[in-house]
Amino acid sequence: MATIRLCRPAEHNRIDPDAVASPARSARESALAIELRGSLDHASPNHGRMQRTVLSGRVGAGAGFALGYATLLALGVTVSSPVLAQAAAPDQVKRGEFLVNYGGCNDCHSPKTMTPQGPVPDKTRLLSGYQASQPVPPVPPGVLAQGKWSAMTNDDLTAWVGPWGISFAANLTPDAATGLRPWTADQFVKTMRTGKHLGVGRPILPPMPVQSLAALSDADLKAIFAYLRSLKPIQNQVPAPIPPK
Ligand code: HEC
Repeated sequence: MATIRLCRPAEHNRIDPDAVASPARSARESALAIELRGSLDHASPNHGRMQRTVLSGRVGAGAGFALGYATLLALGVTVSSPVLAQAAAPDQVKRGEFLVNYGGCNDCHSPKTMTPQGPVPDKTRLLSGYQASQPVPPVPPGVLAQGKWSAMTNDDLTAWVGPWGISFAANLTPDAATGLRPWTADQFVKTMRTGKHLGVGRPILPPMPVQSLAALSDADLKAIFAYLRSLKPIQNQVPAPIPPK
C-alpha cells in the first residue's frame, strides 16, 4: 500500500463548491487536500493477477467525495509516482480480461487440467502456452492429407499440426526471457494488424486467429495487452514451429 498526500495552498482552491456534492461547508473553505491512494494489490499467484492499481481521491475534511484521476489532472495536480505512471487503469485490464475470455485465448494458450467435465484451463499456469517440458507427440503418417484430416491438436490444444507444419501456442505471460515482457503495446497491436511477428517478422501460423484480432480497435487490443501484462509471469520457452516435411 503506497499513499501519497498532495496538499495545495488555500489560494489555489478553485473548486466549484456546488460541484462538490458535500454538505460540509468547512470542506469548501478548508484548503484543498487531495489524498491519492495507489494501492497495490498483489493477488495470490493462483489468481494469476500481478498488480492492480486503485486510485481514489478525497476532497476536504471528510467530504467523502471521490475524484477521478482525470479530475485530478484537470486540477493541475501532478502525480509523480513511477508505479502510478506504469500501471494500467483497472478498467482497461478488466476490459482486456473480458476480451481474452470471449476471444477464447485460453483454449489454445493455456495448459489444461482434466476434470469430470473435460479439460479446463490450468489457473496456476494461465496463458503460458505450450509447455516446454511436454514431449511433442509423433504425428501418425498418412492421417493428414487432402480428403483426409487437415489438422490435429495435442491433448491440451496448445500444439497444432497441419499443412503449415507444427505450431506451438505462445507464452503470453509477461516473463522477461520467455514471454511477452519485452513487447510494447504498439508491437502487440502491429502484430495483430499485420499477422507478422512484432509487425515485421515471420507470418504467424494457424490456427492463431490473427484475422479476428485485427478486427478489434487499437483500444481493445491495448486492453488485451494490459491484461496479459497483469498476469503472473511464467518461465516457459515455447519451441519454434516445426516446418512441414
Ligand atoms: C485456435 C488456437 C488459438 C487461439 C484461439 C488463440 N491463439 Fe494465439 N497463437 C496460437 C498459436 C498456435 C500461436 C503460434 C503461432 C506461430 O508460432 O506462428 C499463437 C501465437 C500468438 C501470439 C504470438 C505471436 C508472435 O508474433 O509471436 C500472440 C501474441 C497470441 N497468439 C495472442 C493470442 C490472443 C490474445 C488470443 C485470444 C484473443 C489468441 N492468441 C487466441 C493459437 C491460438
